[in-house]
Amino acid sequence: HKELKPFPQDFLWSASTSAYQVEGAWDEDGRGPIAIDLKKDLPEGTSDYKVAADQYHRYKEDIALMAELGFRAHRFSIAWSRIIPDGDGEINPKGIEYYHNFIDELLAQNIEPIVTMFHFDTPIALDEKGGWASRTTTDAFVRYAEVLFKEYGSKVKYWLTINEQNMMILHGHKLGIITTTSDDPDKELYQINHNMFLAQAKTMAMLHQMHPEAKIGPAPNISYVYPASSKPEDVIAADNYNAVRNWLYLDLAVRGEYNTLAWAYLEEHGWAPTIEEGDLEILKSARPDFIAFNYYNTTTMADAPLGGGASERSEDADQQIAEGEEGYFKAVSNPHLQMTDFGWEIDPVGMRMTYRAIWDRYRLPLIVTENGLGAFDQLTDDGRVHDDYRIEYLRKHLEQTQEAITDGVEILGYSPWTAIDVVSTHQGVAKRYGFIYVNRDEFDLKDLARYRKDSFFWYQQLIQTNELPP
Ligand code: BG6
Repeated sequence: HKELKPFPQDFLWSASTSAYQVEGAWDEDGRGPIAIDLKKDLPEGTSDYKVAADQYHRYKEDIALMAELGFRAHRFSIAWSRIIPDGDGEINPKGIEYYHNFIDELLAQNIEPIVTMFHFDTPIALDEKGGWASRTTTDAFVRYAEVLFKEYGSKVKYWLTINEQNMMILHGHKLGIITTTSDDPDKELYQINHNMFLAQAKTMAMLHQMHPEAKIGPAPNISYVYPASSKPEDVIAADNYNAVRNWLYLDLAVRGEYNTLAWAYLEEHGWAPTIEEGDLEILKSARPDFIAFNYYNTTTMADAPLGGGASERSEDADQQIAEGEEGYFKAVSNPHLQMTDFGWEIDPVGMRMTYRAIWDRYRLPLIVTENGLGAFDQLTDDGRVHDDYRIEYLRKHLEQTQEAITDGVEILGYSPWTAIDVVSTHQGVAKRYGFIYVNRDEFDLKDLARYRKDSFFWYQQLIQTNELPP
């Protein structure tokens, strides 16, 4: 039996959340609205985000639980519209204060903050000015970043720019988190993409200048792409999809350049963004210190010959259902994989391949900023949730993480989704991911009390011993 290398001694054992999914207090203390706050057509039977897990009012209790569990780090996001309610106007002192308190509380418990600057929550006032398709938003983001670095830059060592920019471009429209106004939304989306990368590049350079000791990186969702078979056309299809799903985003964030295959795809569709003078230099000027990525599953692609009836770009917002497009790729299910209750394929070995692929291509240290199992949890009479299925999921992904470390990949930390139950992006409260259970239902807020799940104690033991429990 092969010897696996241990997890590094200073491994960042963590777990993640995002502001709009966990905080609640959506209109308190001067927070400005975001698109999803006012969304009228939430999927049927799912909660809105107005109260969420009410962490805004309970953060001390939540951080105490995180400390009890033993987190060495915690990844959370700052709500732009708490800091600058309309995105580019007045700074809100109450918002600034909230995150000082939050970060100070983490540090007091020896928990390293890993801060996402932007997790799907554009202030609505900016959407009304043209959203990310306009450079007003790019500039507003850079100013927001400067405020964050000035306020928190000496306390926070790990910064993440934009969460899952690729998922925002590919699915954000349908989720109601990205607003487009033109009658050619796809073209507009790739302009949005370009503008976000400009904002990100400027921000990375600014942090390095203001706080040379701090580190910053992008946080896309990366999914290893398998060909459906060894048929060469299937392999080409997989490669095509890999370029427009993964490498378009990481090549821009890490190398500051457009992936040529993805660029050809954009040009063929008439979706290539307008590149203004100086943009390419801005993109080139920044270098991340690490690559953070979210991993839930792999994708399998088959050949999609012209006239062969491949599906159109899917209307389903579920990440598991990737697009098919004649002439490029066609998503198929992988017969070797099992699925979650919510129809997402589970592929721990694919995670090892994802680590290897990113490491081989960029040679930058990696941090997993999301991975996890969305499931229907049941609170039982003993005040626990017996989520052995989640423990199993995490164990298998961590075994593959250890395999990847043994393969030679440099991995700094693991921050699964989520620290505490949140409201999912489009499947409500019923789809839970946390180590900590929040006592509420979709529309019945109950007492919002916190309960430790079995996975809480399992992760606690893992962190204490720095090895997978037997
Ligand atoms: C990621 C997001 O896409 O996946 C999170 O960064 C999200 O915000 C997570 O919650 C899980 O997806 P879902 O749809 O189950 O909430």
